[in-house]
Amino acid sequence: MKTTIAEVSKYVGEEVTIGVWLQNKRSSGKIAFLQLRDGTGFMQGIVVKADIGEDKFQQAKALTQETSLYVSGVVVEDTRSSFGYELQVNNFEIIHEAVDYPITPKEHGTEFLMDHRHLWLRSKKQHAVMKIRNEIIRATYEFFNTNGYTKIDSPILTGSSAEGTTELFHTKYFDEEAYLSQSGQLYLEAAAMAFGKVFSFGPTFRAEKSKTRRHLIEFWMIEPEMAFMDHNDSLEVQEQYVTHVVEAVLQNCTLELEALGRDKAVLEKIKAPFPRISYDEAIDLLKEKGFDDIEWGEDFGAPHETAIAESYDKPVFIVNYPAEIKAFYMKPDPERPEVVLCADLIAPEGYGEIIGGSQRIDDLELMQKRYKEHDLTGDAYQWYLQLREYGSVPHSGFGLGLERTVAWISGVEHVRETIPFPRLLNRLYP
Ligand code: 4AD
Ligand code: MG
Repeated sequence: MKTTIAEVSKYVGEEVTIGVWLQNKRSSGKIAFLQLRDGTGFMQGIVVKADIGEDKFQQAKALTQETSLYVSGVVVEDTRSSFGYELQVNNFEIIHEAVDYPITPKEHGTEFLMDHRHLWLRSKKQHAVMKIRNEIIRATYEFFNTNGYTKIDSPILTGSSAEGTTELFHTKYFDEEAYLSQSGQLYLEAAAMAFGKVFSFGPTFRAEKSKTRRHLIEFWMIEPEMAFMDHNDSLEVQEQYVTHVVEAVLQNCTLELEALGRDKAVLEKIKAPFPRISYDEAIDLLKEKGFDDIEWGEDFGAPHETAIAESYDKPVFIVNYPAEIKAFYMKPDPERPEVVLCADLIAPEGYGEIIGGSQRIDDLELMQKRYKEHDLTGDAYQWYLQLREYGSVPHSGFGLGLERTVAWISGVEHVRETIPFPRLLNRLYP
């Protein structure tokens, strides 16, 4: 029976054939242990000289790392490994012999591994991170689909910028100037007026000259937008959504979390509701923690976010930032117009802001005023203004950065390991 490692539990006691790569091996005079992977999982194969014969045993002992082969054998339970099964190898056939695979089981430097990202993806840890990423994406669709949202794809080539013009990638669009999208939000607001509750999932691009463990040049964002929902309604959606995603990973990625050494008890605490503190309270908290220089009106950097997060074992919302440091479209608090109805959701353990969201300005005149203040002229924004002209309603939305969320849930240090082929300040290869 031809099968995969993910499916072997169905064939205990039976003979199966699996297409695999050899990850690692160790052997003694009589027995060889082959660490096999097939993309769906990782499994040990046992080759016993007395069973397989001298020639085949010597061939097994000589197998090189990343050689591809078909192995045949009997599936047996193995209570010592967390996977739970191993293969008693009866035969194998080499498909392609790999010579001098560059990534050995020894330690390698980050730059070397990044240069070999196309191969590094095969490693058990990288495999685990990508599987968790995939589970988060799956759980995202599940959450929004079961809660009545319509998925709307926003354009990648665009004439308007949502988050300010300094970080845009410019490109020619025939005779016009275009940018790569930094957020689909403006388009999603239009879609929310047509479909009520919508979400998008797509790549976004920021020409940020930031070289930190939280910054990618190309990253993927999940952006829900909801008509007739105010800021507080949106916070509830956010905490429900994040709770759902964490639960899904805990439930469906047990082996992956174990491969990464991630403490599940830490993730089990992540349940809605999440604490909320105001920007004002955050300033006070930072002063208490020794950040004497921070003044009201300044934006928070990574050290500030990390210090605030340390006080909580769940993600924490920081709400109502000063209007000055936030985007043009955020609705001012009617009782205190110098702050806006917005929130950043800060992940625990120093992973920083994973969500930015707000209630949007729905008043035409105020939006026109903001346009003037932010120098937003031209055709690119006319359509966005029209959304406030015809049946404008209160609406809110947010954007969750996928890679930062994967980094936090997986417990990996740097976002470069959370996307298959990271685009970083100094890296476009491979
Ligand atoms: O806070 P941001 O800039 O919000 C927006 O773009 C809104 N228009 C979203 C919306 O309301 N629809 O970005 C949202 C999230 C951040 O919280 C962060 O998780 C992630 O996107 N992010 C990045 N992730 C990796 N690398 C970068 N350079 C990132 N910039 C933002
Ligand atoms: Mg933000």
